[in-house]
Amino acid sequence: MIHLAAIDLKREKISTLLIPVCEDQSIHTDAAVRALAETALGLEEFQGKQDQEVILYNPPGLSVERAVFRGLGKAEKLDAEGLRQMAGKSLKRCAKMGVARLWVAVPHGVGLGLDASSVLTALLEGAVLGNHVFDRYKQNKETKSLARIDFLVPAEHTRRFQKLPSQIETVCRGTILAREWVNTPSNEKTPVQFARLITAAAKKSGLSARVFTEAELQHRKFGALLAVGAGSLNRPAMVVLEHKPRSGRDTVVLVGKGVTFDSGGLNIKTGPSLGDMKSDMAGAAAVTATLLTAAALKLSRCIVGVIPLVENMVSGRSTRPGDIVTSFSGKTVEIGNTDAEGRLILADAMAYAVKTYAPKVLIDVATLTGACVVALGEKIAGIFASDETLRAEILAAAGRTQERCWPLPLPEDYKELLKSSFADINNMPSAREGGAISAALFLSEFVGNTPWAHIDIAGPAYQKKESAYCGAGGTGFGVRLLMDWLMMGVSK
Ligand code: BES
Ligand code: MN
Ligand code: ZN
Repeated sequence: MIHLAAIDLKREKISTLLIPVCEDQSIHTDAAVRALAETALGLEEFQGKQDQEVILYNPPGLSVERAVFRGLGKAEKLDAEGLRQMAGKSLKRCAKMGVARLWVAVPHGVGLGLDASSVLTALLEGAVLGNHVFDRYKQNKETKSLARIDFLVPAEHTRRFQKLPSQIETVCRGTILAREWVNTPSNEKTPVQFARLITAAAKKSGLSARVFTEAELQHRKFGALLAVGAGSLNRPAMVVLEHKPRSGRDTVVLVGKGVTFDSGGLNIKTGPSLGDMKSDMAGAAAVTATLLTAAALKLSRCIVGVIPLVENMVSGRSTRPGDIVTSFSGKTVEIGNTDAEGRLILADAMAYAVKTYAPKVLIDVATLTGACVVALGEKIAGIFASDETLRAEILAAAGRTQERCWPLPLPEDYKELLKSSFADINNMPSAREGGAISAALFLSEFVGNTPWAHIDIAGPAYQKKESAYCGAGGTGFGVRLLMDWLMMGVSK
């Protein structure tokens, strides 16, 4: 769907050409594109300011039917994310206009203070992600995704960046798959149904997949996970995905929270907070999509995904507040609050992962706490890490992908908050304050000495309104972040 092309605009016939323009600087090398940009900037309604748009039809001297100019603002203020957003918005506009094929004039990076690879990466990502339309449940499918996008680059770049388009498209397809799973309503992704969706996708990409049924989880004593699933008619499950290339030695384990619907259980949620809880499996979606993508790109390290799946519901079989269960690790847990269910299923999944794989690194991704959203807002994830190198690596990946993370602490003395009078630990902290931290500290009790990071994506996993390169709903947050981290080299 995306390609690099070195073509002569004077000769080639083009239906729609997108030309990004800065207000204070010429950013193109191609003479024809530069001339077009000059013409656009000569119009009263266009100065190249951010988000401005103007269209010229059949500009003279070229066989371009429609030239769409998009303003980028001042060159010095522009970063990779600015380009990503411009590409995303342009793609959405083009899709709405009914454009099927688009050519994009790629600016050179020099004046922008970016290298050619960053410019290209940002534009390709923004375009693929912005071209995604989720209309599975609509009878009237008004906007169609574009079928093909060609990025116009110098001939030398078509060779230098030959592999970039398919790599970026594969990673962004992962993000899109995660988005679609999050957007899928809970009535169509019960734990067992979701497990089937995951294994079907795994089979296609050559990942090995194993599903633990409820009976197997009982046999293996996943007491905390089973306690969360107890109230639902839809039985819990756990999926384990393995990417094991011959070259791989050390194992990285990724764990994703998969609560297909979080009613809160008997500590039921009220009103509005219940509304979007189909998204409480966004961690599972991100981890699964990352494994599928890693397999598709044939990454050389061993990666395992552990995906616990439950529905947190209310019934005569629901776990009660005050119940005490024995987790997979052997630790007993007093369930002080049935709405703090994520940490329960993660505790069992992580303890299982540590015992089974003795991983070099373990990362969990979870829509874990409302407190994290209060702390960092809806666009930034909280990151907690027992290992400084690992934290720095993930923060660097966050910077490159704009899947933003901010570090939060794991203060030893706050463990006090998780004391139970009757069991080894309580899932409900004794204070409301610092809720994201106490949740992370709870998890820390189940990873032993394994270098571990926890990413709380309760904010950025889901959005009520569309943004530059994402529609309303699931964002697929985590896939680009984890893929970047995996590809840039992993701890030690
Ligand atoms: N799934 C929620 C967290 C959440 C909140 C995700 C908002 C996305 C948006 C989680 O299971 C939860 O209910 N957490 C409780 C924990 C509390 C009971 C200790 C919370 O954050 O209120
Ligand atoms: Mn909950
Ligand atoms: Zn939850």
